[in-house]
Amino acid sequence: MQLEFCQSDHVGDRAPQSLGWLLDERASAGRENLDAVHVSRYDAKEDGGALGEVRLLQGLGLGARSTVLDLGAGTGQFTLAVAPICSRVVAVDVSPVMQERLREKVEASSHRNVECVSAGFLTYEHSGEPVDFAYSRYALHHLPDFWKSQALARLGRFMRPGAVLRLWDVVYSFQPDEAEERIESWCATGGTGIETDWSRAELEEHVRDEHSTFTWLLEPMIERSGFRIEDTDYSRDGIFARYVARRL
Ligand SMILES: C[S@@+](CC[C@H](N)C(=O)[O-])C[C@H]1O[C@@H](n2cnc3c(N)ncnc32)[C@H](O)[C@@H]1O
Repeated sequence: MQLEFCQSDHVGDRAPQSLGWLLDERASAGRENLDAVHVSRYDAKEDGGALGEVRLLQGLGLGARSTVLDLGAGTGQFTLAVAPICSRVVAVDVSPVMQERLREKVEASSHRNVECVSAGFLTYEHSGEPVDFAYSRYALHHLPDFWKSQALARLGRFMRPGAVLRLWDVVYSFQPDEAEERIESWCATGGTGIETDWSRAELEEHVRDEHSTFTWLLEPMIERSGFRIEDTDYSRDGIFARYVARRL
């Protein structure tokens, strides 16, 4: 096969769905996120500290005129916490089961400024006012690293210059030769009550089947995708990272 480089074959104008090489985001959304039983008990298992997150963003200028995008919104803990504060919140998720739960919660609430969109990081198309605050918690790790960079670059296109990205995920801040010890310690924290806690099997599944990466790989990716990281916070066990970044 003859390889040619520097071709000018331009694909930028084609709809992403027509690209045969595009990742199937639903297939990589995480087994549990497509499972109705898991989704029904998600809020009992996981408290994302959404009110604290909203307060943090208020300190960075979030207010009544802000447009907010929640990517990988899940059951909408953050979406529903931010809705009373902002002008518009778009809650995007690729899992139909999560979207259904989210829509039920939005309908049961009094908030009429929430839009639920069935799409992924790689297919969501934003319209209307540019995004002032983008939020994503525990979702980006569902994409392999190449696709994380594409997700971040796409996201940047929807955001105003100076807009804030709050990213919180399972991101490893240890060195490669520490991995076995750190991962094993984390998996050992798994509880037995799967209805209200993350089990060891679920944590093992996360490491084995999902795409959490190292902080020292993700951070250059964030910056190369058009953001400046302003704040970094690593958990003591080296498993979680939280960022505040600004769109350049
Ligand atoms: C662990 S849940 C987190 C939900 C919520 N952000 C929270 O903090 O509670 C991960 C969510 O990301 C969604 N997800 C996975 N891959 C995605 C993708 N490529 N695009 C958008 N959402 C995705 C899943 O369907 C799931 O709802």
